[in-house]
Amino acid sequence: MTNCRIFVFFFQTMVDLIEKLQDEARQGEAIAPKFGDTRSYARKFYIESYGCQMNFADSEIIASILQESGYGATRNAEEADLVFLNTCSIREKAEQTVRKRLTEFKSLKKSNPGMLIGMLGCMAERLKTTLLEEEKLVDMVVGPDAYRTLPVLINQADGGQKGVNVLLSREETYADISPVRLNSNGVTAFVSIMRGCNNMCAFCVVPFTRGRERSRDAFSIVAECRDLWDKGYKEVTLLGQNVDSYYWHHPETGIQVTFANLLEMVANVHPDLRVRFSTSHPKDITDEVLHVMAKHENICKYIHLPVQSGSTRILQLMNRTYTREWYLAKVKRIMEVMPGCGISSDIITGFCTETDQDHKDTLDLMAESGYDFSYMFKYSERPGTLAAKRYEDDVPEEVKRRRLEEIVSLQNRLSLESNKRDLGKTFKVLIEGESKRSSQDWMGRTSHSKVVVFPKENKSLKPGDYVMVKVNDCTQGTLLGQII
Ligand code: 5AD
Ligand code: SF4
Repeated sequence: MTNCRIFVFFFQTMVDLIEKLQDEARQGEAIAPKFGDTRSYARKFYIESYGCQMNFADSEIIASILQESGYGATRNAEEADLVFLNTCSIREKAEQTVRKRLTEFKSLKKSNPGMLIGMLGCMAERLKTTLLEEEKLVDMVVGPDAYRTLPVLINQADGGQKGVNVLLSREETYADISPVRLNSNGVTAFVSIMRGCNNMCAFCVVPFTRGRERSRDAFSIVAECRDLWDKGYKEVTLLGQNVDSYYWHHPETGIQVTFANLLEMVANVHPDLRVRFSTSHPKDITDEVLHVMAKHENICKYIHLPVQSGSTRILQLMNRTYTREWYLAKVKRIMEVMPGCGISSDIITGFCTETDQDHKDTLDLMAESGYDFSYMFKYSERPGTLAAKRYEDDVPEEVKRRRLEEIVSLQNRLSLESNKRDLGKTFKVLIEGESKRSSQDWMGRTSHSKVVVFPKENKSLKPGDYVMVKVNDCTQGTLLGQII
């Protein structure tokens, strides 16, 4: 009995830890520019970002809009006149974290009554009325397509009115705004290429919070990448909810640009500028994209290809529009065109009606795909989504937890196996900075997106340099090596 209790305690703690790590990954980072901005500002803003990379990229656009209007960034919420939370609605837990933070900021207001608190991003779309009117937690609520109106909304809020704009747009891409690179390592940067999503995955709130898909002017994307290169950056990650459906045409010339064309245009900015992209939808990634990747050495050989489930029946309920077999054929094709290409996934466990057999199908598919890495989540019902309307969230919490734990431990094994396959190999590594564990070591990434840690040795090296590193050891998450 006691053993059983200890086991349950251990099991719960482990699952809690996994969930915390997964769910709160990159959540709640406070960001302010590290370099360059020497202007002095009368008022200061503090911004904390939650959720996906798109949100972090959006915070850089917001910072640019605010700086243009005379507000300077700070890393310290206590000295800020404006406090913003750029929020995420993807799972219930993400929303709970933000609510807790808002309550903390509200108490900060007692010592600084002039402070304004704004909620930005996906939660703004979802919870406008509740947070503004019922709970009175915020002074401003601004949705993802309304950031240009921030200066006006701040003025309104200064005058005692609530500043609200949650209108979604069919055109806004912020193409002309040059993002302020927040918390940058000066080596890698995100570049947003499109916004919104037209896929109606049954579990997902994004189409409702971020609106319809629209692609950004291709030339403005290339110009941003060129500017990053000129400023010394060595890697760009092209971001969108579904990058493979990128499509832009020039309104006057009629020039049409697909994602494959865009990748090639960005790859041509400079052969030493690495290009990554995220996220790909398995139904949309084309052979053309794979061939462009194979052709250009500087397009990283790594694809994040979320499967969500390994069961065709569940995929159908999720409205993912592909089957298990179709997905596996896509993985095979990727490996044919680019042998050794890195591949990672997102997996949801415990979606409505999921049986043990469906779960087993997911485990089998993971092993067959040989993922290097996965983000794994328990299904969290989101109000307004197709699944919330159509299906019952009927998999018990303990079953979701157990399945998540099985998926996580399989992924851990796959990641270790994948890293072991790299032992003895030599990779071109882009140095991103010092290793978190030791100032004697560098940390960088291979083309297939694995983290490599290695002794500094040569004193003249610096972040942004490429080095050849031979892998001689590994853990589940990291390759360890020596410069050769
Ligand atoms: N519950 C759990 N995970 C979700 N995701 C999206 N919506 C949900 C949800 N309701 C996951 C998907 C997606 C990733 C960004 O978040 O795996 O790919
Ligand atoms: Fe959500 Fe699906 Fe769009 Fe991804 S592709 S943002 S999971 S609806």
